Amino acid sequence: MTDTLLAIGTYNDWDIEPMRADHDLEALAGTDDLLALPEARRAQIRAVAFKGHAPFGAAHMDALPNLGLIANYGVGYDAIDVAAAQARGIAVTNTPDVLNDDVADLAVAMLIAQSRQMVQGDAHVRSGAWSERPLPLNRKVSGGRAGILGLGRIGRDIADRLAAFKMDIHYWSRSEKETPGWTHHPDPVALAEAVDYLIVALVGGAETEGMVDARVIDALGPDGLLVNISRGSTVDEGALIEALATGRLRGAALDVFRSEPDLDRRFLALDNVLLQPHQGSGTVETRRAMGQLQRDNVAAFFAGRDLPTSVT
Ligand code: 8YV
Repeated sequence: MTDTLLAIGTYNDWDIEPMRADHDLEALAGTDDLLALPEARRAQIRAVAFKGHAPFGAAHMDALPNLGLIANYGVGYDAIDVAAAQARGIAVTNTPDVLNDDVADLAVAMLIAQSRQMVQGDAHVRSGAWSERPLPLNRKVSGGRAGILGLGRIGRDIADRLAAFKMDIHYWSRSEKETPGWTHHPDPVALAEAVDYLIVALVGGAETEGMVDARVIDALGPDGLLVNISRGSTVDEGALIEALATGRLRGAALDVFRSEPDLDRRFLALDNVLLQPHQGSGTVETRRAMGQLQRDNVAAFFAGRDLPTSVT
């Protein structure tokens, strides 16, 4: 059998060229175009290099009868129906660790930018308002209480950075972890009650759907700031928008949304939310590393070797 690889998503040349050099490559912008491929061509495809957040489900898998691998570009693989893949004997891989630094950097940057009103400060200078009045005072970050919701690899890197800002670190995760003295809370509400800053670093998917609900938001309270760099699905966006609009929450900084990139338009009217275009891993260095790890998994699959970063 030939090494036929289907790349789904928008890739840089630095990813597509090595895939083309090493495999018989078919490329599609998205899963919608899958059935437009002739049946005989679909039958040749043994691996998919998947990029994007649109669902890749059982029907897509069934359109590729000889599929053995879905290599996801990204650490979060909630778009892929892993149970359906397992039921069909299809392996799934992701790209963990190589993006931890960038996502943690962005989380900290968003927390500080929002608490210190940096976007508003920039507008203040540019508009000439500075010579008329000072920027209103903002709120201190260093020494505050930070809550990490989900202490996985990325959550831990965020906590390590915030500890360097002399912050008191609290966290919630299903099981208590070994930490340098950070405080574990039994549930997300208890965590939110104990902190000034709540940073969401959960995995996506059914198990964390809507975990940041009205109760968590109210527990964080009118002095609290919410940062989300994980998945939009973890937050009840309606409850968040209402809390931001009515002052029940001081502010939020969001890199992810339920319907990206067409986010809920109500966010745009709020001046206490910092909006980012899901760019947590978006540096040249990290995106190159993610592409390399995706290709390493594809190469291992075709060579019959152990998959470097299998999720199943
Ligand atoms: C995306 C991400 O993969 O790794 C993840 O889980 O959310 C991002 O790094 C990236 O935006 C490409 O879709």
